[in-house]
Amino acid sequence: MSEQAETLSITDNRTGRTYELPITDGAVRAAGLRDIKVNNDDFGLLSYDPAFTNTASCRSAITFIDGDAGILRYRGYPITELAEKSSFLEVSYLLLAGELPGSAELETWESEITHHTLVHESIKKFVDGFHHDAHPMGMLVSTVGALSTFYPDAKEIADPGLRRLQIVRLIAKITTLAAYLYRHSVGFPYVYPDNDLSYAGNFLNMMWKATELKYEPDPILEHVMDVLFVLHADHEQNCSTSAMRAIGSSQADPFSAAAAAIAALYGPLHGGANEQVLRMLSEIGTVENIPSYVASVKDGKKKLMGFGHRIYKNYDPRAKLVRGLADEVFKVTGTNPMLDIAMELERIALSDEYFISRRLYPNVDFYTGIIYQAMGFPVEMFPVLFAIGRMPGWLAQWEEGLLDSEQKIARPRQLYIGYGERPYTPMENRSPVADDDVEPIAAQAAQAAPARPLR
Ligand code: CMC
Repeated sequence: MSEQAETLSITDNRTGRTYELPITDGAVRAAGLRDIKVNNDDFGLLSYDPAFTNTASCRSAITFIDGDAGILRYRGYPITELAEKSSFLEVSYLLLAGELPGSAELETWESEITHHTLVHESIKKFVDGFHHDAHPMGMLVSTVGALSTFYPDAKEIADPGLRRLQIVRLIAKITTLAAYLYRHSVGFPYVYPDNDLSYAGNFLNMMWKATELKYEPDPILEHVMDVLFVLHADHEQNCSTSAMRAIGSSQADPFSAAAAAIAALYGPLHGGANEQVLRMLSEIGTVENIPSYVASVKDGKKKLMGFGHRIYKNYDPRAKLVRGLADEVFKVTGTNPMLDIAMELERIALSDEYFISRRLYPNVDFYTGIIYQAMGFPVEMFPVLFAIGRMPGWLAQWEEGLLDSEQKIARPRQLYIGYGERPYTPMENRSPVADDDVEPIAAQAAQAAPARPLR
């Protein structure tokens, strides 16, 4: 890495003064702009970056993505190799510790996770309080947040041993919670963890066990589940990870921060997209309906869910791997009728100028839903599966943020575009507000930057 050998010269045409900002690792520090002032009373220049499309919020050694080249690496290891050769718990260790574990370390780690899968019995009462058709992501946000009340020691975020304990608890218990939420929604009795099974195998056990004495997961489905968790394990500073870091920066406990990350993941533009892909494919219904659906996407009336990515502009390497896994799953479950629609939709979209010019390719969520559905998961559970996989990444990023001496409580600035000071208007002097004028501030904001329609 270069040691501030490079600089950026900026001339402020308001004053004619020139400033030099050091360039380190391809970035200038936004705080350096604060020296650029018109006079001593001036606050200094801010950078304006809605949605942080060109702002690095941290320095991180966890995950590397090169969006143009379609590269994703955890701690330097290519995702393809990890998906093929590693396991989810090994990858979790890698993300958190920075190195692959030795065999004794892995054994201890797996045993620790396995022995923390039970949740407090009171959680069942908590889950029972939800309506049967409550969305499992809403329930997951609440139950993960509720765990912080069971473990008050989680507040001790400066204690490395206690941090590790909460990390183990969260990775271990999220599968148990996820399965409980599903079983609550279908009215089945909760299934306790089986310590003889692998992480993925035990999750399938807690999901699907019926009256048999011992549940034996299908080895192919168990393997695919594990690989899918690996593919979701981290993805640097996405929306949910940024939420995890932001909440963590206020020194809240990790259960509360993880609940916020899950809430961020729930949205249809993020982890909720896998659910929306299946809903979209059902809406399309038949291959013949694809052209009219694509036309409505191009008209801006709809979005092609599972397409597009803020970072990947050529292909999402995870999507390629997921597509391969689908064939493995179908050998066990039989094919998913949605597959034909998905493949034809992908073919048409990839040859259409609209998608080519915008560099829109299938992302990880495009094919995962088809696999999950073939495995028997209801669509509402798809984002929950994403959350299970992402938990170690969130925790690694949370801890990295806490230990980073440069980090402080997250507190972005704003460009204020509202009214200047004005005297309070007594009720009798106020003119009636028209229905279409109920949000005058929002209207001003829209004038300053016209809003894009929500598609
Ligand atoms: N379908 C149709 N048009 C799209 C899509 C899409 N899925 N995604 C982007 N566009 C268009 C968008 O309308 C814009 O067109 P124009 O320039 O004419 O206004 C252009 O492509 C650029 O899009 P953008 O909104 O500036 O891109 P972004 O980087 O802000 O958004 C995204 C990235 C993932 C939110 C978006 O592509 C999207 O909404 N995709 C569908 C939801 C989805 O699949 N999300 C899962 C992402 S991968 C899993 C994860 O990590 O969360």
